[in-house]
Amino acid sequence: MSQENIESVLDETRVFEPPQSDTSFSSIADWQRACDNFEADFEGTWGDLARQNLTWQKPFHTVLNSDKPPFYRWFEDGNINLSENCLDRHVNNGLGERTAIIWEGEPGDVRHISYQQLLAEVCQAANSLKTLGVVKGDRVIIYMPMIPEAAVAMLACARIGATHSVVFGAFSAQALRDRVEDAAATLIITADGGYRRGAVHSLKNSVDEALSQGCPSLKHVLVVKRGQNDVNWVDNRDIDWTTLLTQQATTCPPETIASEHPLFILYTSGSTGKPKGIVHSTGGYLLWAHLTMLYSFDFKPASDVFWCTADVGWITGHTYSVYGPLSNGGTTVMYEGVPTYPDAGRLWKICQDHKVSIFYTAPTAIRALNKAGDQYPNAYDLSKLRVLGTVGEPINPEAWMWYYKVIGGERCPVVDTWWQTETGGHMLAPMPFATPTKPGSATHALPGIATEIVDAQGDVVQKGGGLLVITKPWPSMLRGIWGDEVRFIETYWQKFADKGYYFAGDGARKDEDGYFWIMGRVDDVLNVSGHRLGTMEIESALVSHDAVAEAAVVGCPDDIKGEGIFAFVILKTAVTEGLEQELRAHVTKTIGAIAKPDVIRFTENLPKTRSGKIMRRLLRDIAAGREITSDISTLEDQAVVAQLQGKTVS
Ligand code: WT7
Repeated sequence: MSQENIESVLDETRVFEPPQSDTSFSSIADWQRACDNFEADFEGTWGDLARQNLTWQKPFHTVLNSDKPPFYRWFEDGNINLSENCLDRHVNNGLGERTAIIWEGEPGDVRHISYQQLLAEVCQAANSLKTLGVVKGDRVIIYMPMIPEAAVAMLACARIGATHSVVFGAFSAQALRDRVEDAAATLIITADGGYRRGAVHSLKNSVDEALSQGCPSLKHVLVVKRGQNDVNWVDNRDIDWTTLLTQQATTCPPETIASEHPLFILYTSGSTGKPKGIVHSTGGYLLWAHLTMLYSFDFKPASDVFWCTADVGWITGHTYSVYGPLSNGGTTVMYEGVPTYPDAGRLWKICQDHKVSIFYTAPTAIRALNKAGDQYPNAYDLSKLRVLGTVGEPINPEAWMWYYKVIGGERCPVVDTWWQTETGGHMLAPMPFATPTKPGSATHALPGIATEIVDAQGDVVQKGGGLLVITKPWPSMLRGIWGDEVRFIETYWQKFADKGYYFAGDGARKDEDGYFWIMGRVDDVLNVSGHRLGTMEIESALVSHDAVAEAAVVGCPDDIKGEGIFAFVILKTAVTEGLEQELRAHVTKTIGAIAKPDVIRFTENLPKTRSGKIMRRLLRDIAAGREITSDISTLEDQAVVAQLQGKTVS
């Protein structure tokens, strides 16, 4: 979070009372009562909720197994099929005609898919996977645009117990290859292309490139024709989605799945090394996806139209575009394109046209659309909206107020939800009709979730700043990092090992009312437009270019993106014309366009302590154009600062 944002948040004193509503959680006392239930009987309460809200193939007896922390296991002797919970049970309850997915393509094409239709298509896709030899436990990569087939592919994997790993469609071929290899996937499901900003963006080309040097585990590539763009075809490896699906039966019995079976792997950035594959379970994950729809959004499946704008390539898209709404038997909206195409009114037009009642997006989108002007939202009927959500990064109070006033007409509560890829679902969030909100605060933990702020020793801080931890296990917690137990323990559990706390990597503050205010990452992880990027990842990408000797990447304040990317680069050669653009293109090719540095500053030295550590705080001050607050007396060469500030030309 930028310095200005921190200051505006620290000054914030406004409180907004929740609107009245006759719903299950309609006062703070309801929230408190739900929390008290967990306090009185932690496992019993989770067990009751799991039995009441989900359909089990075999009931569980053990709620939580804590024999080997941090390897917690939830409902482990139970069996549950996620796709049965998201589809069959609603169809069997007479809801087959209800719309499951409303999809809008960027060019404006619209599809309404009922539960009945979705079930049939998921069965055909599941049978197709079987035909291709995919069996329970295999890993399947999904690399797709935001089209309904992406959700179908996820649900089909879940139906047969294949572990899916969705890779964001804008990630590069190399990033895709890294993930295919790490997961040792046997199948990629992709599309020829998808629409972005009015043009077809090819995905199949990236898949071909990713596989060009061979990939031993991979057997097939299943291709949905969406863009109708020309693509290369590798016989025996590449298979047309529609041709294969239409040959399949529209029924497929859901496979028996153990609750702890890995539903998916989702790669996310850390402070060191390559992205890590976060592993999520089936039963525990689904329970929290289901419940948070009710707690944080007051989701009413029979009447609401829910729209989470996230791409399925991110955890938000998994939990709140697909699994949460569908588990509840409600209607979810999916949109293929960018928010500003053809103009900044697109999201508001979609809200109007599809009568969206709960809308969930990221602060970066809110800031960009706010900047575009009120004429865009004002041109559309947004009266169906009743709850507004935000996620991904701290929201500055100005953006919160604009969202509340201009989009929500001062009628809709704003729910600021704090969570992570690792947590599976919301951890801190207001209940929209129960919790008074403060602009910029994610308020407090949801019932069942135990969050605290601690000091460096792990002692709880009642009021003031510190590190955010989660002190008790929760059902949708990550189960590990794919293939790397050591990293799992070191990243999340080592810091407060004696207490057994989960370390989230965020700094936070608690005010006098016990409200949490997230201050941003305390590690070398950047949050660019709500997307998580490791500084090391970008540094490695830069250093892999022939001209680069060394690089240091830090975040810098950015009005729209929250955080921008600032790279200090030492060259092996002299600066040549066009090199800056070339390095940007190189990072785009290595990781993806979201990792492209905003500023590249060439320098002859990087500031290091005598022990050789890069002084990142100093670099952050320089990148932000702030006064230098670090102690630079230990700096070997004092002249280096002026050069880093761009005051001398090298
Ligand atoms: C990091 C997790 C969880 C979905 C999207 C991002 C930041 C997330 C908030 C919020 C302030 C937030 C944190 C967190 N973050 N939500 N409401 N307020 N910061 O998932 O990519 O795993 O990133 O995003 O820094 O650690 P992610």
